[in-house]
Amino acid sequence: MAVISLKHVLVAVALVSSTAQAFPAYGSLAGLSEREFKFAMSTLKPRIPAPAPGPLRFDGPKLAEDREHAFKPMKKDDLRGPCPGLNTLAAHGYLPRNGVATPAEIIQASMEGFNMENNLARFTTYAAHLLDGNVVTDLLSIGAKTPKTGPDPDAVALVAGLRNHGTFEGDASVTRADAFFGDNFSFNQTLFDQFVDFSDRFGNGFYNYSVAAELRFHRVQQGIAENPHFSFAGFRHLTAYAEVTFPVNMFIDGRRTGFERLQLDMQTAETFFKDNRFPKGFFRSEKPSGTEGLDQIFIAHPTQPGRNAGAVNTFTVDNSLGDLGSANGFCSIYTGLANVTIPNLYPNPTGVLRRNLITNLQFLFDGLPKQNNCTQIFPFGSK
Ligand code: HEM
Ligand SMILES: *[C@@H]1O[C@H](CO)[C@@H](O)[C@H](O)[C@H]1NC(C)=O
Ligand SMILES: *[C@@H]1O[C@H](CO)[C@@H](O)[C@H](O)[C@H]1NC(C)=O
Ligand SMILES: *[C@@H]1O[C@H](CO)[C@@H](O)[C@H](O)[C@H]1NC(C)=O
Ligand SMILES: *[C@@H]1O[C@H](CO)[C@@H](O)[C@H](O)[C@H]1NC(C)=O
Ligand SMILES: *[C@@H]1O[C@H](CO)[C@@H](O)[C@H](O)[C@H]1NC(C)=O
Repeated sequence: MAVISLKHVLVAVALVSSTAQAFPAYGSLAGLSEREFKFAMSTLKPRIPAPAPGPLRFDGPKLAEDREHAFKPMKKDDLRGPCPGLNTLAAHGYLPRNGVATPAEIIQASMEGFNMENNLARFTTYAAHLLDGNVVTDLLSIGAKTPKTGPDPDAVALVAGLRNHGTFEGDASVTRADAFFGDNFSFNQTLFDQFVDFSDRFGNGFYNYSVAAELRFHRVQQGIAENPHFSFAGFRHLTAYAEVTFPVNMFIDGRRTGFERLQLDMQTAETFFKDNRFPKGFFRSEKPSGTEGLDQIFIAHPTQPGRNAGAVNTFTVDNSLGDLGSANGFCSIYTGLANVTIPNLYPNPTGVLRRNLITNLQFLFDGLPKQNNCTQIFPFGSK
């Protein structure tokens, strides 16, 4: 407790001071370069969240690596995480290359670089921001926890970046290992070899929805059999299915047509998953894209949400945080987030924190596909 309040005092001192001199008082910002320091000084203040960007004006295919978006290798302090899409966007400057961004920047970049559909980009980003971001400073790390997102707003909130296991990042990823095995976010060659093997067996050497259905199910079976703490409940039950559609919908060149448009070759896959970069000459998707194929993949091998009970092969169903397979799947997962997970992270918010939580929850709700008719939840009130 003492440590936390001391830190908050130091942070307050650093934030009200306009001189660089007082700044080193906030120990965890030490080591920033002068440029980063200026960035920190200008951004680590409470902010009213920027409005959510709307759909793109031009939403056709477009060269991804254009003059303004050249690939640059990571610098020492750049942050990268479990999402090959966002890592790629940062490597090409669609996002700040250091890997710290506002939700509005993440939505805009996902649309610009990959033609991700506006509603999906909004729902995904605000969920990620509420789970792993700093809602007071309006900044989210796409990698590890970092002082670059500002002082933590309270003691319970994690503000731990997308790399944090158990909030958004979860088990059964197709090219990343479960956190239990040590590294939960890096490209894993063993798992990519399995990705290639499944693409050979079920896709004639290409990754498509049929491969995705088999590999998604297999990764769940692997988790149950090998990871005593395997967890596949709540929001993860949705994202695990959504993510296996993205390589087909957004990693394939948008100038392809017909059958070919839905078959991802292994070299392109490796360029995204391993190198976090757009292949030379790559055109983004020909139309706003999202989770097309999800139903087909889920129905091929339906699973239920749940987790192992501390030993392998002890999978226990837990649908208390929603179930993708239920009649109102998407809504029940939204309800789990808004009614349980997020209020648990922020038990008694006040002031700017509460205001920004309410705003971000509204943005999250606005991102839900309208046809689902989900009922809005107000865990922190509505004003
Ligand atoms: C809109 C904002 C986005 C956010 C907040 C986000 C966040 C994440 C996170 C936290 C994960 C890790 C989950 C896990 O596997 O444990 C992930 C995985 C993934 N994301 Fe994103 N993402 C976004 C956009 C995109 C885009 C635009 C693409 C592709 C064009 C993409 C492709 C993927 C893929 C393929 C995975 C699965 C990696 C694997 O299973 O090995 N994401 N994303
Ligand atoms: C890669 O994933 C496999 C399978 O989950 C795991 O056994 C291995 O330890 C991981 N390798 C690294 C380097 O993390
Ligand atoms: C996720 O991986 C990072 C880097 O290996 C590690 O520091 C962190 O503790 C991991 N998280 C969990 C919950 O295992
Ligand atoms: C995946 O590829 C295999 C082999 O070419 C093919 O039989 C199957 O129809 C494809 N599935 C989809 C959904 O494209
Ligand atoms: C939300 O949670 C409260 C208890 O915290 C519960 O009474 C209420 O029924 C829940 N609402 C929904 C829609 O699940
Ligand atoms: C959503 O609500 C509208 C109007 O109340 C109704 O016509 C429609 O069937 C509902 N859709 C779903 C999926 O419940």
